[in-house]
Amino acid sequence: MLVFVMMSFITRNDFNSFYVPTTLDDFFLPGSQPMESGTFNSPNQCDNCHGGYDQNAEPSFTWRGSMMAHSMRDPLFEASMTIANQDAEFSGDLCIRCHSPGGWLEGRSTPTDGSALTLNDRQGVQCHACHKMMDPISTDAEDVTYMNSINNIPPINGNGMYVVDSEDIRRGPYANVQSNHATKYSEFHKSSTMCATCHDVSNPVYSKQADGTYAPNALGTPAPSFDTYELFPIERTYSEWKMSAYNSDTGIPSEAFGGNLENVISCMDCHMKEVTGKGADKNFVPVRTDLGQHDLTGGNTFVPLLIKDLYANDADVDLEALDAGILRARYMLQNAATMNLNATAVENGFDVEVEIINETGHKLPSGYPEGRRMWINVVAYDNNDNVLFESGAYNGTTAVLNQDGTKIYEAKLGMSQDVADIANANGTRTYTAGESFHFALNNVVIKDNRIPPRGFTNANFEAIQAAPVGYSYVDGAFSDTTIYTVPANTDKIEVKLYYQTVSKEYIEFLRDNNVTNTKGLDLYNLWVAHGKSTPELMAEAELYTGTLTIEQSDHSDHAVSIYPNPAAEQVNVSLNIESPYKVSIDLFTMTGKKIRTITPDGLSVAGKHVVTLPVDDISSGNYIIRVNIGNTVMSKLLVIY
Ligand code: HEC
Ligand code: HEC
Ligand code: HEC
Ligand code: HEC
Ligand code: HEC
Repeated sequence: MLVFVMMSFITRNDFNSFYVPTTLDDFFLPGSQPMESGTFNSPNQCDNCHGGYDQNAEPSFTWRGSMMAHSMRDPLFEASMTIANQDAEFSGDLCIRCHSPGGWLEGRSTPTDGSALTLNDRQGVQCHACHKMMDPISTDAEDVTYMNSINNIPPINGNGMYVVDSEDIRRGPYANVQSNHATKYSEFHKSSTMCATCHDVSNPVYSKQADGTYAPNALGTPAPSFDTYELFPIERTYSEWKMSAYNSDTGIPSEAFGGNLENVISCMDCHMKEVTGKGADKNFVPVRTDLGQHDLTGGNTFVPLLIKDLYANDADVDLEALDAGILRARYMLQNAATMNLNATAVENGFDVEVEIINETGHKLPSGYPEGRRMWINVVAYDNNDNVLFESGAYNGTTAVLNQDGTKIYEAKLGMSQDVADIANANGTRTYTAGESFHFALNNVVIKDNRIPPRGFTNANFEAIQAAPVGYSYVDGAFSDTTIYTVPANTDKIEVKLYYQTVSKEYIEFLRDNNVTNTKGLDLYNLWVAHGKSTPELMAEAELYTGTLTIEQSDHSDHAVSIYPNPAAEQVNVSLNIESPYKVSIDLFTMTGKKIRTITPDGLSVAGKHVVTLPVDDISSGNYIIRVNIGNTVMSKLLVIY
């Protein structure tokens, strides 16, 4: 049953705007099909019991501040879906499957521009869709019986191939729950495989060939195999995790993530950390210490600003929740990487070594490839503060990143010549083979130097189609080191690691290639009005060369950690120093003004030592804590809220 009745009613809105005449069948994927999964209650209805009582623990508030709640309002998504529909007819059906599972299952993904979707469908990845979902690979007897009643059981968790119950049975992490509605204990909701459903994204129009390339399937027919690893890889966040050391019985110890947990394993451990509180606002509900906070933030601090602007008067959109989500995403970014900085005096200056360690459970960055990036900015100053050298300069006014010699961590996709030829055969514009932002047409990975997670091996990442491309990492690597040479008269070296949600190049592409509507131009205007996707500072460090000529600086034997961060009342600076050193700690504003000296006379420290600093009288914002240990300087970002 692959043919949808709706199809024949869809007319082309512009005879010129489709380049590859794909049909809905090209995008068919197994799992529940439209109209097979009953209906979906609005998250506003869940709020009656699951919202409005505890912003830290209740499911509603944090979910409403995450991008998953806005995946079908997201103007970046809409602009990109418009291009997809232009490039490959009906491809929007694929997008809506994951960005609005409720809308897709209730049968409103056609027309594939999303014009049939309701306000409730715009509530993105909703409560009810996630909680009626079952594991297609389940061995649970009831689930198996249900699956035997549908026609196409997905062979693997991924690509938006979900099975969603037609009965209203809400699955969750607890057994024997006393509730106002039917519940069912679900192992799936405690497992990363649940997130795999949408966080391995493939283009099912292309199948893997014997020589490792990806070729289009015959037009008008579904893929011969729906195994993720037989289809063209767009995102492999879940599989990256699957092949990481996090995917083990004990996981990895973590101070930054996990909440009440000491070790983190699954996606949930980091993105739905365990907190203490109630799962619903009823007297009979127990206080739980393993409540999954519906945080669900990654690194997106920019698109939430656009949602706030566009939906300021929409009753379904909680502006306060979005602000809180931006802060949580910033927290994620500031804890996603550890940066180590080291300099050595050499003949013609100093060799500066910048090591970036990936602290996440997947590649850093992971996920959506187009326009998303992370880069290193290195600046060397002389003793009059003149800039002698800069790499990775970014101009905040023009949003131009100087790419010359800059270490940019990113994935770039593109299309092969034969795909460009197919597209050119049908339209009037010209497609060229090579790097491109044409999501729906891309079938080649051109670059991928994103930093692998703990546990990486080349063979395992090859198997999930996520091996480095145009770069190399040795087995076991979860960091990357870049070496810069700065002039001999350098006094100070400043290094920053930045993350950007969307590049200028991608925004301009979405504007300039849109021949359908104003979504690209609208996005461009929003981008201009909201800081052009201001880069987020993930880590910062600096070093003075003064003492380097006498003694080489090496702080590999010193460990400094700061917690909690963000902090409200007080912050602890934990030091672990191997041999006795003189230590001083200062707090600076982001503009370099020293506002507090914590150890005025210096402190002679060896071994473990914790210094506590009250911050309750300091206004909220970003600060730098600078720790001097002997001749080494380490700086860390501190967020006070
Ligand atoms: C991405 C899918 C997803 C969405 C969307 C989602 N949840 Fe959850 N929810 C989960 C998972 C997974 C867990 C289990 C978390 C854990 O145990 O770590 C959970 C747990 C819960 C629980 C059990 C108590 C708790 O908080 O752990 C309740 C109640 C709940 N969700 C309600 C909701 C409501 C209400 C919404 C919408 C406001 C929502 N969920 C949105 C996936 C989702
Ligand atoms: C009339 C009150 C009420 C409404 C409305 C409500 N729930 Fe619940 N729900 C509860 C209570 C009470 C619990 C038990 C919480 C606990 O024990 O921690 C619960 C538990 C859950 C669980 C956990 C089940 C498990 O076995 O782990 C999920 C999932 C859930 N609800 C989803 C939803 C979703 C999705 C909606 C909206 C479509 C919703 N609920 C609407 C009262 C409600
Ligand atoms: C039904 C599909 C679906 C499922 C299931 C799903 N996600 Fe998502 N998720 C999305 C979509 C779509 C987006 C992108 C939203 C956007 O930016 O427009 C997203 C975005 C995210 C982000 C990025 C947010 C940011 O700030 O960049 C995180 C983190 C995330 N999801 C975590 C999870 C976790 C953890 C799970 C499992 C508990 C999960 N997701 C399950 C569809 C899903
Ligand atoms: C050890 C903690 C940890 C684990 C485990 C983890 N993540 Fe993340 N994740 C992070 C951090 C920190 C970030 C922010 C950095 C970034 O955006 O890349 C992030 C970012 C993301 C993003 C946004 C990526 C981007 O930049 O666009 C998505 C999507 C995501 N995670 C999904 C998942 C899913 C799905 C899983 C499980 C398969 C998972 N994460 C497991 C810590 C973790
Ligand atoms: C299998 C599920 C799935 C499908 C199919 C899918 N997406 Fe997504 N999309 C995601 C997830 C998950 C993310 C979040 C990744 C991240 O944050 O890194 C995402 C993120 C995005 C983003 C970035 C949004 C932001 O605010 O940063 C855009 C744009 C996007 N998708 C466009 C599309 C388009 C266009 C299509 C259809 C051609 C599509 N997606 C199909 C799951 C999917």
